[in-house]
Amino acid sequence: MSDTTARAPLGTPIVQPIHHSAAYAFDSLAEARAVFAQRAGGFTYARTGNPNVAALEAEITRLEHGECAVATASGQAALALALLALTGPAEDAHAVVSSRIYGGSVDLLTDTLADTGLEVTFADPRNPQEWEDALRQGTRVFLLESIANPLTELPELETIAEIAHRHGAVVIVDNTVATPHLYTPAEHGADFVVHSATKYLSGHGGPLGGLLVDAGRFDPTRDPERWPWLTERQHRWGDRSAVEVYGAKRALLGVARCKYLNDLGPCMGATTAHEILQGITTLGVRVERQSATAQRLAATLSEHPAVAHVHHPRHNGPRQAELLETGGYHGAGGVFSVELHGTPEQVEQAVDALRLIKLAANIGDVRTLVAHPASMTHCRLTPEQFAASGITENTLRFTVGLEDEADLTADLFQALSVIAPAEAPHAHA
Ligand SMILES: Cc1ncc(COP(=O)(O)O)c(C=O)c1O
Repeated sequence: MSDTTARAPLGTPIVQPIHHSAAYAFDSLAEARAVFAQRAGGFTYARTGNPNVAALEAEITRLEHGECAVATASGQAALALALLALTGPAEDAHAVVSSRIYGGSVDLLTDTLADTGLEVTFADPRNPQEWEDALRQGTRVFLLESIANPLTELPELETIAEIAHRHGAVVIVDNTVATPHLYTPAEHGADFVVHSATKYLSGHGGPLGGLLVDAGRFDPTRDPERWPWLTERQHRWGDRSAVEVYGAKRALLGVARCKYLNDLGPCMGATTAHEILQGITTLGVRVERQSATAQRLAATLSEHPAVAHVHHPRHNGPRQAELLETGGYHGAGGVFSVELHGTPEQVEQAVDALRLIKLAANIGDVRTLVAHPASMTHCRLTPEQFAASGITENTLRFTVGLEDEADLTADLFQALSVIAPAEAPHAHA
C-alpha cells in the first residue's frame, strides 16, 4: 500500500474547484493597497471578482469573440449594468430599443431606468429605417435581440449597427436565445453582448446568472465629449479617467464592474459560475438537438388545424429565412411560438391540458416549457407596447428541451384537440 500522507497525491482535478471565499488575503499592506487602488491586478472581495467567476468571464469572452466580460447575478443585472454605464450620467440619455424584446427588458428600460431620466423609443428590428428615424442627439444605445423572445424575429443587425455607429451610438445585442453556438453578434456589428446565462448557457434550469461582454470595438476617446464620465478625470478613479485606469477598449466594462457592480452588488457567486461553466461544456450538443427538434415541431404544428401561424425563423417570411441562411446563423434555436385559433378560453384550456410540457416562464431548459407571454413574461406591457410586440392573447411560446420528439408531439396534439382535433403524424426517424 502506498503512503499518500507524506506528499501531495499525483493528479489534478479536471473540473476547477469552487473557490467559496468572500475575501482574499494579501501578504502585505503594500500589496493590498496596490490591488485596491487598481494599480495591480488581483481579487479583493468577491463582489467584484472570484476565480470561478473569472473563469466563466474568460470563457464567454472566448465564445463571443470579445475583449472582456463581467458576470452578474442575472441577465437582468447584466443589461442594467450595461445601460447604467453607457447612459447613466448623461442628461439627455436616449436609447432606441427593439419592439420585439423580452418583457423584463421593457420593464427595466421604461420604468426603473426611466426613473433615472433614460428615454426610450421602440423600433422594429426588421426595419432599419425606424431606427434611423428614432435617432436624437442624446441617443447613445441601440438594443435588440439576435433571436427575439418570444416571436423569434431576426434583426437586420448589420444595417442597424451601421446606423448606430454613424451617429455615435453603441449596439447592445441580447444573445440569450441564439447563444454563441448559433450566432456571434460581435462579428455582425454589436459592441456589447448580454446574456441571461440562466437559459441555454446553464442549460438545466437551475441557477440565475448574467453576462455582459465587450466586443472591444467601443472606444470612447474617439468622441470624448459624448462620454465624459469615461474620458474625464474623476475622484472615483484616483483623479484619473476610466480610460486611463482600464484602457480605452476596456473602460466601459471597468466602470460596469468597479462602479456599478461594486456599488449596487448584483454579483455572481462562485457556485453559480461553476454550474454555468459546467453547462457550457454541453452547450453545442444541447442547442443543436433543441434547434432540430424545434424546427420539426414548428413544421408539424404549422399544419395543425388549431394553429393559425407558427413564429419560427423558417416560418416568418422570405427575408427572415434568408437572414437565417446567410446572416451568420448556424441554426434557428430551440424557441418557437404559435398563434392559436379559438377563443382565449380555449387557448387557456389547451395550455392546462398539456402534461409533459410544463407551464413555466423560462427558456433553454432541458425540459420543454410553454408560456403564455401576454399573462406571464410580457404581462406589464402597455396596450401600445403590446400591439408593437406582435404578441396576442392567442400566442403561446415553447422552449424545446431534450425529450423524445414523439412524446412532445403526442402531448401537443392531445392538448390542441381542445381547439381542433387532428391525428399526430409519425415521429421523425
Ligand atoms: C432574452 C432574455 N434576456 C434577458 C432575460 C433576463 O434574464 P434573467 O432572468 O436571468 O434575469 C430573459 C429572461 O427571461 C430573457 O428571456
